[in-house]
Amino acid sequence: MLNQWETPLFHALLKHASAEPKPFHIPGHKKGKGMNPEFRDFIGHNALSIDLINIEPLDDLHHPHGIIHEAQELAADAFSADYTFFSVQGTSGAIMTMILSVCAPGDKILVPRNVHKSIMSAIIFAGAVPVFIYPELDKKLGISHGITPASVQTAVQEHPEAKALLVINPTYFGVSADLKLIVDTAHQSGIPVLVDEAHGVHIHFHPDLPLSAMQAGADLAATSVHKLGGSMTQSSVLNVKKGLVDPHHVQAVMSMLTTTSTSYLLLASLDTARKYLATQGERLLEQTIALAESVRKEVNAIPGLYCPGREMLDSNAAFALDPTKILISVADLGITGYEVEKWLRSQYNIEIELSDLYNILCIISFGDDRSDTDFLLRALRNLSETFVGAGKLGSPVSIHLPDIPVLAIPPRDAFYAPTETIPFEESAGRIIAEFVMIYPPGIPVLLPGEVITETNIVYIKENAAAGLPVQGPEDSSLEQIRVIKEARPIR
Ligand SMILES: Cc1ncc(COP(=O)(O)O)c(C=O)c1O
Repeated sequence: MLNQWETPLFHALLKHASAEPKPFHIPGHKKGKGMNPEFRDFIGHNALSIDLINIEPLDDLHHPHGIIHEAQELAADAFSADYTFFSVQGTSGAIMTMILSVCAPGDKILVPRNVHKSIMSAIIFAGAVPVFIYPELDKKLGISHGITPASVQTAVQEHPEAKALLVINPTYFGVSADLKLIVDTAHQSGIPVLVDEAHGVHIHFHPDLPLSAMQAGADLAATSVHKLGGSMTQSSVLNVKKGLVDPHHVQAVMSMLTTTSTSYLLLASLDTARKYLATQGERLLEQTIALAESVRKEVNAIPGLYCPGREMLDSNAAFALDPTKILISVADLGITGYEVEKWLRSQYNIEIELSDLYNILCIISFGDDRSDTDFLLRALRNLSETFVGAGKLGSPVSIHLPDIPVLAIPPRDAFYAPTETIPFEESAGRIIAEFVMIYPPGIPVLLPGEVITETNIVYIKENAAAGLPVQGPEDSSLEQIRVIKEARPIR
């Protein structure tokens, strides 16, 4: 019987540090003695004393058989997985592992179009062929939700040879599809389900939150413990259910993609975050949900602002909600979400999670209390008074979403094809060879292999003009874009 109150990895590191062995191994800063004193004094002795490496007593993430193995077993038990593998390369690393574990060159993978760039990067590395499933769009808010079980059913029928289905659950905005039905649909055809659970580590630990990937019976889930589960930035887990995937192969692929210099600070923070979630998670999340719901109610009483709740759940693509995500539509104020982000920064020293043309997103976690949310609400009331007072209310920003482009050739072929750069303004109709995304959330508007349309160009330029960071192209000024060279006709 495993004991979730134990932290074997963290505990062993503390024991090792307190015994003060003489280190003739890397890291060369030797508990901070060989480090720039400015940084050493800032970060402190405790952290540096456990910034260690995979020496014999401390096990090895690439071949766990001691304290890392024990910590991963406890994590698997907490997440109801058969196996859990720790990632020190974020959820991006875990996502690449999932895809490279199941796809060989030329294999088809079913994916929603609104995926994070790590998924498209992995598809390029694997040489897989994406079959895109269109996500449901919320035209009122200007955001994408998940995919419907019906569209999964169609995709599975049309492409029964697909090697995997990838699902985002929940979305950045806290919306989940009917994951159980999606998993069952894919499994009926023997297709494994991989879940991007970057925004859902906590949902496993409270019954009122959407079903987690492991609860819904998915095969693999890449889960950002660092985002909402209390571990340090960059630390994530890959949860595995055996059956349709081979856990040992998954582990081997993960090792191929992982640094040999794994950070024990990150690993220890995963061990301790797992204990906190498993033993205190439900109680902490109960408070967090109540706090977030009261913020939602109060935001909705502020003129010009709208914070959607369960009323937006009107299909099985928008089926369940994580209420701790406070999405606020600011379109009725007549200013963009990015302008609101900058205003909150300059007037209140508040940093939000993200903004787009129409919305801002604030995350409430068990690191927040009533005084934090009261401060946010004060700022939002002042925001409304300022812009309603300026007569902007009543001229709402009009909402439109980018066209989903047509994929002309597989992303890997586009990535390796002979290319040329041309003015972005004149690129409509050409096949793009690079990514263009608005960051965050890092979902590509265009990805290698897609045909650029005039409306994509307008949409991207509109976001750039509003000040939102457009990333991906080699030419960050967006004047030039890399496209596939077209063969000229021979006379
Ligand atoms: C939907 C989604 N998937 C994957 C990732 C990658 O996670 P990480 O930053 O842990 O690599 C992110 C990051 O923001 C994300 O939003």
